Amino acid sequence: AAAEKGGFPSFMDKEIHDQPQAVHDTLLGRMTAAGRLTLDEIRVDEQVLRQIDKIIVIACGTAAYAGQVAKYAIEHWCRIPVEVELAHEFRYRDPVVNAKTLVVAVSQSGETMDTLMAVRHAREQGATVLAIVNTHGSTIPRESDAVLYTHAGPEVAVASTKAFLAQITAAYLLGLYLAQLRGTKFPDEIAEVIDDLRAMPEKIAKVIADSGRVRQIARWMADTSSVLFLGRHVGYPVAMEGALKLKELAYIHAEGFAAGELKHGPIALIEPGQPVFIIVPSPRGRDSLHSKVVSNIQEIRARGARTLVIAEEGDDAVLPFADEVFFVPQTPTLLAPLVSVVPLQIFACELATARGLDVDQPRNLAKSVTVE
Ligand code: G6P
Repeated sequence: AAAEKGGFPSFMDKEIHDQPQAVHDTLLGRMTAAGRLTLDEIRVDEQVLRQIDKIIVIACGTAAYAGQVAKYAIEHWCRIPVEVELAHEFRYRDPVVNAKTLVVAVSQSGETMDTLMAVRHAREQGATVLAIVNTHGSTIPRESDAVLYTHAGPEVAVASTKAFLAQITAAYLLGLYLAQLRGTKFPDEIAEVIDDLRAMPEKIAKVIADSGRVRQIARWMADTSSVLFLGRHVGYPVAMEGALKLKELAYIHAEGFAAGELKHGPIALIEPGQPVFIIVPSPRGRDSLHSKVVSNIQEIRARGARTLVIAEEGDDAVLPFADEVFFVPQTPTLLAPLVSVVPLQIFACELATARGLDVDQPRNLAKSVTVE
């Protein structure tokens, strides 16, 4: 087993380090040098894909957060409405699904029963189902109309890391492919995003290489009883995933919020010493999201929160309000989750390890939940 872990103390550690490769391999062979997508493996009639008027992403756990990131990107690039729904909720309501709906089922294992039941239900209603799955030959792709595999390699640790980054990457590819097919964006913009995507593995590697400080903070915080996470836009699912990782691995109460929702309730939780991670959007983004989130940091700091900030390199505006800043490389807003979630994964893994817990096999959880 020691050899399988590649010299790392746990599979979780190894899989965090595998992430640049997972993203690289998921992109490999799917984009041309000329800035086009080649996803011939999606064997769905192009005419069907041109006519879909709605996308519903169904998934559970971490895969559902990948779906939430996908929503922001696909709506922006394709101008198709995208809903994201937990598979078990989708299945037992009365979803509006028809032949013009593309259902995207996201699953690392391809065996999650909740997701599989939702896939069956969607197909019965006439939807086209595309699976984004990591495990070849698993059930969900077999029962779907098409599959776009993530090439993260086998993921052993129960809590998902590299599969999550690969799912987000595959979802970007799908969004760009649909934009290309439907002609919704100028070829220039697609080509630009393709170049940005190609640069991601190196940026992710840099975040991992620079993780000394976040590891140290995690060890110091081993006795913390509650951590909050705030994010906005694509930073919102990142906040949710950061909280999920901490619950799963360290058994600490953790909650993720949309930063804009702070004043509508969660700010009541802020008391002196409360640690809060804030995922700050790029200051180079088009709108005023950055300054709004910086104001949130200021608001909670004024109430005594201990602010742990994830921000883009060069973003000095956060410095006056941050107790700690973890910088990540500059990245276009929609692609930022691929770098901003990494310090949160490392934080959870390191803190749980400092508590003496088994990060690969957290209590009560299973890698693949094959019951409803
Ligand atoms: C379980 C795992 C999670 C995972 C979820 C979905 O709950 O513990 O880490 O995110 O299932 O799994 P899937 O294989 O469908 O991605």
